[in-house]
Amino acid sequence: MTAATIALLPGDGIGPEIVDEARKCLEVGLARAGRTARFPEALVGGRAIDLTGSALPPATLEAVDGADAVLLGAVGGPKWDAPDAKVRPEQGLLALRRHLGVWANLRPVKPFPELADATPLKPERLAGVDLLCIRELTGGLYFGEPKGRTPLDGGGVRAVDTLVYTDVEIRRVVTLAFRLAAQRRGKVTSIDKANVLESSRLWRQLATEIGRGFPDVALEHQLVDSAAMRLITHPSSFDVIVTENMFGDILTDEAAVLAGSLGLLPSASLGDGPRGLYEPIHGSAPDIAGQGIANPIGTILSAAMLARHSLDADAVARRIEDAVARALADGCRTADLGGRMSTAAMGAAIRERMEG
Ligand code: IPM
Ligand code: MG
Repeated sequence: MTAATIALLPGDGIGPEIVDEARKCLEVGLARAGRTARFPEALVGGRAIDLTGSALPPATLEAVDGADAVLLGAVGGPKWDAPDAKVRPEQGLLALRRHLGVWANLRPVKPFPELADATPLKPERLAGVDLLCIRELTGGLYFGEPKGRTPLDGGGVRAVDTLVYTDVEIRRVVTLAFRLAAQRRGKVTSIDKANVLESSRLWRQLATEIGRGFPDVALEHQLVDSAAMRLITHPSSFDVIVTENMFGDILTDEAAVLAGSLGLLPSASLGDGPRGLYEPIHGSAPDIAGQGIANPIGTILSAAMLARHSLDADAVARRIEDAVARALADGCRTADLGGRMSTAAMGAAIRERMEG
């Protein structure tokens, strides 16, 4: 088998530290499977702005176009946060998602039982939680036009964002949700705000239509506000969630509370082909960047998803996931989980457990 090409986009803040650990885990896993990979590195986000003036420079597009998969750390930080900034790091990430055509963002949430004490929730609420949130990623409020500001006569100003979806955009992501639910516990919760938003009414209508083609999968609709509450009160009642871009952004940070730390959750962004973009769901954590204390597990589990979805290497994915579970069961903890292990020590502890 030829060597896989995995573009590394470490980005800003803790990005480089956590991506480094995830790359090493992938290398170990692939080597055990008799496979090799190249890891060309490219710029995205704030550092890309500093060095090239663009948050997603042409060389990065070239690197990702030539890759089988992309592993990204995080983008952004206070340095680039001025409200009147001409270009922001986050624009690089959004443009990258669009460029790669990765319209479905899979965010699995399955708390590790050992970490029950790391969450503010009662342990009985966490029993049986195993959900997959599918966030639509290249439409909705993040990308709708028009957007921007216009000065008003008399000196005021008007700011606009637009929530827009086409039937095609809704159909493909909802269909994926049904397909994946059919391989799981057979339940889709489609989350919307159909009591207020027209785009949500279209979403609900199409989800109902698509559901008829999956008689073995149960479909329920829920409004996003009450779904936010249910995620905390009855999280084990969800199997597959599918929702609009921004609802998914918000609900998955909330769902991270179930896992015990934002630092644990991985994601896979997929489109029509096998190439995907893999990144932890958390941000660049500028407050702890450069200290070597960030939790690398969200990125390491993203690397596992990369192996599974883009490299057809399910055994590698499972080896990484099992090693993470064992490291946590053995008491390995970074600071976010109340421990003292460094990023590098946690990475090494996981790789040690991949060797068995
Ligand atoms: C995420 C992040 C991004 C998003 C930001 C950094 C633009 O919050 O991946 O969840 O909102 O999509
Ligand atoms: Mg987010």
